[in-house]
Amino acid sequence: MSAEQSSPTGPDLTQGISLDALADGKMLLGHVGQEGVLLARRGNEIFAIGATCTHYGGPLAEGLLVDDTIRCPWHHACFSLRTGEALHAPALSPVARWQVEQRDGRIFVREKQEAKEPRGKSRASAPEKIVIVGGGAAGFAAAEMLRREEYQGRITMLSNDDAPPVDRPNLSKDYLAGNAPEDWVPLRPDSFYRDSGIELELKANVTDIDVRSRDVVLADGKRIPYDRLLLATGAEPVRLSLPGADLPHVRTLRSLADCRAIIERAKTARRAVVLGASFIGLEVAASLRAREIEVHVVAPEKRPMERILGPQMGDFVRALHEEHGVIFHLEDTASAIDGKTVTLKSGGSLDADLVVVGVGVRPRLALAEKAGLAVDRGVVVGHHLETSVPGIYAAGDIARWPDLHSGENIRVEHWVVAERQGQAAALVMLGSREPFAAVPFFWSQHYDVPINYVGHAEKWDDLTIDGDIASRNCVLRYKRNGRVLAVASIYRDVESLQAELMMEREGVMA
Ligand SMILES: Cc1cc2nc3c(=O)[nH]c(=O)nc-3n(C[C@H](O)[C@H](O)[C@H](O)COP(=O)(O)OP(=O)(O)OC[C@H]3O[C@@H](n4cnc5c(N)ncnc54)[C@H](O)[C@@H]3O)c2cc1C
Ligand code: FES
Repeated sequence: MSAEQSSPTGPDLTQGISLDALADGKMLLGHVGQEGVLLARRGNEIFAIGATCTHYGGPLAEGLLVDDTIRCPWHHACFSLRTGEALHAPALSPVARWQVEQRDGRIFVREKQEAKEPRGKSRASAPEKIVIVGGGAAGFAAAEMLRREEYQGRITMLSNDDAPPVDRPNLSKDYLAGNAPEDWVPLRPDSFYRDSGIELELKANVTDIDVRSRDVVLADGKRIPYDRLLLATGAEPVRLSLPGADLPHVRTLRSLADCRAIIERAKTARRAVVLGASFIGLEVAASLRAREIEVHVVAPEKRPMERILGPQMGDFVRALHEEHGVIFHLEDTASAIDGKTVTLKSGGSLDADLVVVGVGVRPRLALAEKAGLAVDRGVVVGHHLETSVPGIYAAGDIARWPDLHSGENIRVEHWVVAERQGQAAALVMLGSREPFAAVPFFWSQHYDVPINYVGHAEKWDDLTIDGDIASRNCVLRYKRNGRVLAVASIYRDVESLQAELMMEREGVMA
């Protein structure tokens, strides 16, 4: 999904362009040397920043300007035009910025600016020791934000995984398909943790939280004290309890190790069965097709993804996968697996030398439950992501939070939400009183078709379709009582960004 390296487009901005060419509130793409540079005008102020998103290389010129920020069209990262900082995940690194000169009705882009100093301040009341349980999206984003904010205290990140934090969404997409090199997978190189003073302990299984003494306890009995604690233990794949489910060629996908095990099998597999037509199941199906493996998808529902995206998008997703050779066995489930076949409830059987089970995930709540934190189908948190025990916060797949837009307590399993919650929790631990106000967003990629979704609609009474799904140019609005709860889109990125902005503003007003 990264932007192709190509020769720079648009005018050479060092040579100057007319001020009239850049109306207020507009952007213009040009270049300085080989680098794409985006000019943006806000009133009399002109900003010049790198034109390529630091997440996966999205073209910022096709995004949305909001006040003095720019939002990326692909996965809604947000950058400051003033400083280049990645204000909202999924981008975590800043874009470059350049000095701008206005002279005689012309705009000239001058030298590149040094990265702006982090905006953090020394805080007398900052806690001394912050412990993060979880080395995934939320845990990593929290640690990174703490250091970005110049937090000087101790950060310990404990993960029972054996790999440092990885770009999990890639594990079902380009990396699994064989289109992404290994170095795309870690969120940061190993040196980052050392250089930033983040004590990352891998294979560290936290078994208890002693809320009285404020310690977390590891499986080997080691105790680690905290002043503030972030729980970000994520979710784990649901495992099937049917004969053969524990055979070595039957895999689930959550970690890098899981992904490597599937890739290893895929090297020699000729036929794969994917159990489940969820996002992950279907992304896996697409990636295995890229490896030219015959893929059968078995799932109990009538249409893939209908519950989340509605029947029309469900039919489209099915047809898209069929175009690429996936064979569906819907309204059916597996009843047994052996070394060579998957037996279906309907009576038939499918040959399979690889079976991937993608039937959903379960939040990892055991630690929170054991510690006596309030739990209601997720760890219950308030607007500041604090749990029922002061000083303990929760973020990501485990957190059920009061969503400002829907007005409901929701828990979602999305990468961007987890990262943004990690960032928000970090700021709260440093004393911020900003509530977590981000509107949920996720993306899913099927072959060359990205589906973006903002908002949250568990149920809707009206679904309108603008454009044409089959032509891959559409916006679907899920409404209840006339109010738009969520918007799904394909290649209508600005409308998706506008919907996000509208929901944010409604949420604040509510
Ligand atoms: C293959 C795949 C593809 C995905 N693609 C997308 C996508 O395209 N778009 C999207 O929006 N979402 C996607 N998701 C979902 C997204 O990755 C999750 O929502 C996100 O990772 C949740 O972040 P988290 O920090 O809550 O949990 P995780 O990222 O799962 O991290 C949890 C961490 O906690 C650790 N841990 C758990 N228990 C303990 C313990 N007791 N002690 C120590 N450590 C512990 C784990 O080892 C892990 O490091 C995908 C998920 C998967 C698996
Ligand atoms: S490419 Fe910009 S947010 Fe993903």
